[in-house]
Amino acid sequence: MKTEKIRKTIEKYGNDQEHLMLILRELEHQSGKNVLDVATLEAVAGEMNLPESALAGFVDFYTMFKTKPRAKFVIRVCKSGPCHVMGSTTIFDAVTKHLGIGIGEGTKDGMFFLEKCECLGVCSVAPAMMVNYDLHGNLTPKRIKTILDSYRKKKPTAGENCGPEVEGKACVIDDKRQTKRLLEQVGVVDPLKIDSYIGKGGYSALKKALEKKPAEIIDIVKDSGLRGRGGAGFPAGMKWSFVTKGPMQKYVICNADEGEPGTFKDRILMEENPQLLVEGMAICGYAIDASMGYIYVRGEYRRSIERLQAAIDQARAKGMLGENIMGSGFSFDVFIKEGGGAYVCGEEMSLINSMEGVRGYPRFKPPFPGGAGFKNLPSNVNNVETLMSVPMIIEKGAEWYRSVGPTNCSGTKLYCLSGKLNRTGLVELPMGATLKEIIDVYGKGMKKGSKFKFAQVGGSAGGVLGKDLMSLPLDIDQPIKQGVTLGSGVVLVCDEQTCAVDFLLQILSFFEHESCGQCVPCRVGTVQLHHLAKKFASRTADPSDIDLMVQKAELMKKASLCALGQSPIMPITTILKYFRKEFEKHCDSGHKCAACDASLRRYYSSAATH
Ligand code: FES
Repeated sequence: MKTEKIRKTIEKYGNDQEHLMLILRELEHQSGKNVLDVATLEAVAGEMNLPESALAGFVDFYTMFKTKPRAKFVIRVCKSGPCHVMGSTTIFDAVTKHLGIGIGEGTKDGMFFLEKCECLGVCSVAPAMMVNYDLHGNLTPKRIKTILDSYRKKKPTAGENCGPEVEGKACVIDDKRQTKRLLEQVGVVDPLKIDSYIGKGGYSALKKALEKKPAEIIDIVKDSGLRGRGGAGFPAGMKWSFVTKGPMQKYVICNADEGEPGTFKDRILMEENPQLLVEGMAICGYAIDASMGYIYVRGEYRRSIERLQAAIDQARAKGMLGENIMGSGFSFDVFIKEGGGAYVCGEEMSLINSMEGVRGYPRFKPPFPGGAGFKNLPSNVNNVETLMSVPMIIEKGAEWYRSVGPTNCSGTKLYCLSGKLNRTGLVELPMGATLKEIIDVYGKGMKKGSKFKFAQVGGSAGGVLGKDLMSLPLDIDQPIKQGVTLGSGVVLVCDEQTCAVDFLLQILSFFEHESCGQCVPCRVGTVQLHHLAKKFASRTADPSDIDLMVQKAELMKKASLCALGQSPIMPITTILKYFRKEFEKHCDSGHKCAACDASLRRYYSSAATH
């Protein structure tokens, strides 16, 4: 690529390393072949005065970048839990058959390149794939030919191709029995027009907040009992109060790196009501004395990024962001940072490193972000659902917020339903809904011909619930007592066709792929666990490998630096709690298992590398 072009792109974003992700993404796009070649990387390193090794390490870390030429259209077929359960292997087969290529290969005419990928955040319409940035859900082998041929005919546009099935509002379950708070305005406000949001009462909470003292805002959020909705459940108001005080710059960081397989709630909130997030961040900024906010959005979420950017631009134009908001003397602005396809960046310290333009490695804690976060300055990190809950708390009061949900887990929760249900999508219910209620009422029961086997709650890092836990309240505290976790609100329902061994195999392959490799227990442990799972799937394991798997995961839980390495123990132990016998059966070389055979053939052949 010409140096002049590279120079201009760098100028557009700025020479600071923190802009590296956007610079490289644009250059990759400009290549026309979805590639960042070595010469381009060297030129960027030279222009930005960075060591070439920094560029190489950065590009190698983020799966969305590639240094080898791919093709005009990169097809990424999702292999994560919900897509896997809904038949992603048949989609891979259909693509490879139609194009005559395998995973990691391109067509001779340079049109298509096939990759496997992890969750794309459209799990309610699984199986799904992405062609460049166009999402396609509800795939069937039959539809593959039509979709791919449309690219050859140069007919598709992103909008036409996405189809209504993956539009945010279409993924919300239409059922009046929900308790809609966060979803109340989805489908009501026009996400592209700030006036529509203001017309429905938008920004009145910010106005109200600006009339109070910052400490009062923190007290209201504390009183509401709002707990983080990203998975950890830490009390939001308390987190805000931990942000170091003083004259230095402080930051509000919104974690919108929604990568937990099975989760798509934040995508829908950002696409359908982006101003609510901007307003929530501004209130948080006022409370913690920050004048800048960042939304770190996963790179795959193009529509979210576009709509958020439009919302930010309009909020600035309307004076809801910028200097002296509403004449209050408070100044605050919001910017977007993009991810590059790394699950670990959902961990707050990894996310902060990624924001700074380096590999998304976790950092040792303490110090916590409240003391030393982005650029080592005090930063408050909350996820999308949490920050979007703030305006309603300010508007309607802490007591109103606490009026639904259990005492220690107040408010509503967004549950992401996927799998073998008659109805999948997003529902908002008082925190603590049970699996039975979710399946029978909102999922409208199991699909015809399907019998419930288990549900995975909390995503790949979560656990498996059998029939005995149908009445367990899915709030933040109760599941933990049963060795599972609500996590980000994933409810993936599986039927008896789902092989427990094959299911664990895809989870452990996910962790191996997503381990950042910084700490040894996780880097080595995830490879070993995946290897053991493959032994069961290929019927070459020994019964003693079952306990070996548990021992290794336990060690990783104790010794790993961040939550990623600490996570595999939960899916392993909860799956074994119910299905140990299936693992024992898979130790018999004569045992037949079509699901494991399909996974091994499709995902783990030598060419099928990530
Ligand atoms: Fe495939 Fe989420 S889109 S699992």
